[in-house]
Amino acid sequence: MTLAKGAQLGPHQILSLIGVGGMGEVYKATDTRLNRTVAIKVLATRFSDNPEMKQRFEREAQTIASLNHPHICTLFDVGNQDGVDYLVMEYLEGQTLAQRIERGPLPLDEALLVYYGVPNDGAQVVAERLARSRPGVPVGVSLVETNTGRAAPLERVIEELVEAARPFAVLADYLVLNLNCPNTDSGVNPLHDPANLRRMLECMRGIERLPPVFLKFIAPSEPPAIDAILLAVDTYEFVNGFILNVVPRRPCAGMRTPGADYEHLPGSITGMPLRPLACELLRIWYPRIDRKRHVLVGVGGVASAEDAYRMMRLGAPLVQVLTALAYRGPALVKRIKQGLCRLLERDGLRDISQAVGADHPLRA
Ligand SMILES: Cc1cc2nc3c(=O)[nH]c(=O)nc-3n(C[C@H](O)[C@H](O)[C@H](O)COP(=O)(O)O)c2cc1C
Repeated sequence: MTLAKGAQLGPHQILSLIGVGGMGEVYKATDTRLNRTVAIKVLATRFSDNPEMKQRFEREAQTIASLNHPHICTLFDVGNQDGVDYLVMEYLEGQTLAQRIERGPLPLDEALLVYYGVPNDGAQVVAERLARSRPGVPVGVSLVETNTGRAAPLERVIEELVEAARPFAVLADYLVLNLNCPNTDSGVNPLHDPANLRRMLECMRGIERLPPVFLKFIAPSEPPAIDAILLAVDTYEFVNGFILNVVPRRPCAGMRTPGADYEHLPGSITGMPLRPLACELLRIWYPRIDRKRHVLVGVGGVASAEDAYRMMRLGAPLVQVLTALAYRGPALVKRIKQGLCRLLERDGLRDISQAVGADHPLRA
C-alpha cells in the first residue's frame, strides 16, 4: 500500500513517502490541526490480519512512548483508519547512513557513557548462587551501593556495605569495596572522606574470615589527599590494595566524537579517554604506598597487552578491563595475556613481578 500525496489519515495529510521497511512505510505528513510536520509510520496492510505483527507494532508504540530523551524521537499519536494501523511521530531531518559514510568513517572512540547503575538480585541471593555453583577459579566480588536515585544517609550506606560483604566472607577470594556511591543525602561520596572511610572499615573489621579487600574509588592526585587515605587505612590489615578510578574532564582529550555530542549528557565516561589519566595516577600513587602491604590495580582504557604492560611498569601488578571487553569481546583477555608474555620476553623479564614499577625512578 502506498498512500498518495494529499491522502488523509485522521487529521494528518500525507506529503510524501520517506522510506519503506520490513513492517511498512514511513510518510512525511502535516498535522492539519497544529500545522506541524510529522512522520507517520504505517503498518503494511498485508499484516493487518496478522496478530503477531500488530502486537509488535503496538509494542513499538508503547516502548517509544515510555522513553523521553533528546536522542529518541517522540511519539505523538497512534491510530487506525479503515484497518490501517499507524504511529504519528516527531519528524526529524537527517540523512541515510550511506550518505553519512560518504563523508568519511564515523568517529569511533572506544568509550562508553555509563549512567544508570544496574541493580542485581542483591548480595544474599548472589552469594547463595555462588555457594551452589562453586566455580573452579578465583572469585572476586565487587560491592557497591546500588544507584537507586534515592538519597541514603552515611550510616545506612556503611551498614548495607557491611551486610553485603558478610555472606561473601567465606565464598570470595577477594572483595572490592567500591566507594563511589552516588546516592547519599549530601550529594557527594562520603566514603571518600578518610574519617568516614575509617568508620566503614572499622565495621568491616567485625566480619569473621574477611578475605583480602581492595578499595575502589575516584582517586585524588594531590599527595596530601593520597596520604590522608593511606593513613586512614593504615591499621586495617585486610586492605590489600587500591583500584584507582579516574573521571576525565569534558570534552575528553583525544576523543574523535565531537564534545557537543556528549558534553551535556549525565554519567561517567569510561574506556580509551581514561588511559593517560589512569597512568598518571599510578605514577603519583606508586611511590607513596607501602609496597610490602598494598598493591595498585590499574583501571581505565586497558584494551591491549601494551596498555596493561604500561600500567604494570608504572606500578600496578593487576589491571581491570571493562569497556574494551564490550568493543573487543571476551577473547581480549587471552590476547592480553599472550601479549604480556611477549613483552616480558622482549624486555628480558622473567615474570610480571619484575616489570612492576620498572619505569619508576623510586623502585625499591
Ligand atoms: C557497564 C559499566 C558499569 C560500571 N559501573 C560502575 C560502578 O557501579 N561503580 C564504579 O565505581 N565504576 C563503575 N564503572 C567504571 C569502572 O569501574 C571503571 O573504572 C571504568 O569503566 C574504567 O575502566 P574501563 O576503561 O576499562 O572501562 C562501570 C563501568 C562500566 C563499563
